[in-house]
Amino acid sequence: MTQATFTPRVFSGIKPSGGLQLGNYLGAIKRFVGMQGGDFETIYCVVDMHAITVWQDPAELCNATREVAAGYLASGIDPAQSILFNQSQVSAHAELGWIFNCVARLGWMNRMTQFKDKAGKNAEKASLGLYAYPALMAADILLYHATHVPVGEDQKQHVELTRDIANKFNHDYGTDFFPVTEPVIDGPATRVMNLRDGTKKMSKSGESDMERINMTDDADTIARKFKKARTDPAPLPDTVAGLADRPEARNLVDIYAALADITPADVIAQYSGAGWGAFKPALADLAVEKLAPISTEMARLMADPAEIDRTLAAGAEKARTIAAPILAKTYDIVGMLRS
Ligand code: AMP
Ligand code: TRP
Repeated sequence: MTQATFTPRVFSGIKPSGGLQLGNYLGAIKRFVGMQGGDFETIYCVVDMHAITVWQDPAELCNATREVAAGYLASGIDPAQSILFNQSQVSAHAELGWIFNCVARLGWMNRMTQFKDKAGKNAEKASLGLYAYPALMAADILLYHATHVPVGEDQKQHVELTRDIANKFNHDYGTDFFPVTEPVIDGPATRVMNLRDGTKKMSKSGESDMERINMTDDADTIARKFKKARTDPAPLPDTVAGLADRPEARNLVDIYAALADITPADVIAQYSGAGWGAFKPALADLAVEKLAPISTEMARLMADPAEIDRTLAAGAEKARTIAAPILAKTYDIVGMLRS
């Protein structure tokens, strides 16, 4: 069968579960901004339905939804150029999610490493939603026929599952209706690591706040966290290859490169032989220079929640316009009677 052609379209999402951290910014938001206004239509979502796969206090969920929206806007997502909305305002996500629950196979879900990590030893107590989550993520993407999905490294397996779901749906129903989406995982910061343990990913929910840089941290806090970041005793090497087996050093060089929009090799060229006493303050200054305007703007936006809500409502309206015919056609393909 000849493959249908699809409008180049980007979709990605961030969960409103706790505050945004540097990994979200460098691994996701900054790259989303970079894809805006170019060859793609861009759709960015605050995926609140994904957040409740683990318990969220209702008032905090509402606040975190606005805060992620503020993070997108403050970083440069422009509602005139991109569609920005929260997932639960477009009910078609849940509807297509159900259809994909019936396409995805248990064997596929059982291989999802994020479920195993999050459910841990107590998988019996995990929600059914946490297990089904990747099928909802596939629905988020395919509801807009998105062709490209920028994400951090940790989401690669979920985008691959999305491809499997599109292929199986197309095969089972004898159609080429859904695109086989490409993950976009590029740049030096697709896996920002924990500042206290370079073998673990930086995340919103680590034990200690010192492990991560929050997008709302003030200048002093950012400086203190980088100063206390774990490193090894050796100075910076003279080649990028010299960072192998030095996860903490590698991470700080990658963060610097991503913040400065240069490559890790450029960072090494500039700092080879430098000790941490010189590199860490330079990194902290750079982080403050890049993040302070964003956190100031986030605070300004958060002072007017009604304006954020209006922006999300307008985005949801546009999202529904794209989603509705795709869901309707899916129902037709599946054989759902619509009178
Ligand atoms: P989440 O906060 O889990 O909803 O993640 C939203 C986006 O940020 C996804 O594309 C993740 O891959 C990305 N992300 C989260 N943490 C990191 C990290 N430590 N390094 C790079 N990307 C990340
Ligand atoms: N699962 C993603 C995460 O945890 C968030 C997400 C939900 C997403 N739906 C998506 C990312 C669709 C990209 C596309 O980070």
